[in-house]
Amino acid sequence: MDPAELRDRFQVLFDGEARLFRAPGRVNLIGEHTDYNDGFVLPAAIELQTFAAVAGGTGRRVRIHSLNFRETVSVDLDTGGLRRRNHWSDYPLGVVATLLGAGYALRSVDLLLYGEVPPGAGLSSSASLEVATALALLAVAGIDLSPLETAKLCQRAENEFVGARCGIMDPFVSRCAQAGHALLLDCRSLEERSVPLPDTLRLVVCHSGVRHALASGEYNARRAQCEEGVRALAEVNPGVRSLRDATPALLEENRGRIPPVVFARCHHVVSENERTQEAAAALERLDLATVGRLMAASHASLRDEYEVSCRELDLLVDAAVPLEGVFGARMTGAGFGGCTVNLVRTEAVPAFCEQVTRAFERVTGRKPKIYQSAAAAGACEL
Ligand code: GLA
Repeated sequence: MDPAELRDRFQVLFDGEARLFRAPGRVNLIGEHTDYNDGFVLPAAIELQTFAAVAGGTGRRVRIHSLNFRETVSVDLDTGGLRRRNHWSDYPLGVVATLLGAGYALRSVDLLLYGEVPPGAGLSSSASLEVATALALLAVAGIDLSPLETAKLCQRAENEFVGARCGIMDPFVSRCAQAGHALLLDCRSLEERSVPLPDTLRLVVCHSGVRHALASGEYNARRAQCEEGVRALAEVNPGVRSLRDATPALLEENRGRIPPVVFARCHHVVSENERTQEAAAALERLDLATVGRLMAASHASLRDEYEVSCRELDLLVDAAVPLEGVFGARMTGAGFGGCTVNLVRTEAVPAFCEQVTRAFERVTGRKPKIYQSAAAAGACEL
């Protein structure tokens, strides 16, 4: 959306001069289902983003209008008792409630939201909405919050208000990404390292058209299985506080103490942590063949051990891997549907789109939606 148009819409709806903020969605190149296990992730922000236009309002009221849903919600800052309604407004109101809960003195605001990130696609539409909302509310209230604290606050909104027990990756990369770079994040120490992506490459995202719903149980169930694995390991290895502390060898030694399904989940996480660090190092030395091999191993592990892929995602990956100019392909995000991420040489992108579309349509009768992007910058004011 053109920022000038957003300003105009704000003017018509709320009658005032707005400040504009943007926060991107993301793809994760590798490091899936590792963030909530204190592990490593390697995401990049994408050009699809959420915009927030904001100005101080009157009274003690927060008014939020979504251009996507063509609906306005209004809440009183002093009444309290904000609660999830399974409604689009849960995400921005979750940020309002979390800021209030943390003791920040919010001011009355009018907020206009417009999201380009397709929801339920595994591209972090929710984190981008939360981060854009947080920047807008904080700016109007004159509160200066560090990028890390902002990301943590948005994660808390999602965990406690929306009810999805997701990790720090999505709000962190939406807030902190550097243009042209992926971001290697240690989700335990929260140390980060930006890893340049060659500018001859495009991030190509293929949407399976299968929608996932994070809060709907499977995601939280995987988390619970990881915790079960940690409990079993910690009984004999008190140093193990999370799967981050386990090696493949330690896991293997304890195979007998862990139910097979839980073992498979843990094996994915422990091996994915190794792959993610290796992939970041390979990307830094421009060894794209190794990056691609690690992405393939990640996809296989998510499909077979973590069991969060689906037929449509496997089909998109299988169609992409043999194509000219493709360096890596895998499912991205939580899974259960959503998208694949592909590292594709820029000139090869048109043929890639054509051939993946043809292969997908042949089997499913549907065309996949395909987006392409450079690695974008994290959230900011426009
Ligand atoms: C979702 C969550 C993230 C992360 C991924 C899986 O995107 O929001 O925190 O757990 O799934 O890697």
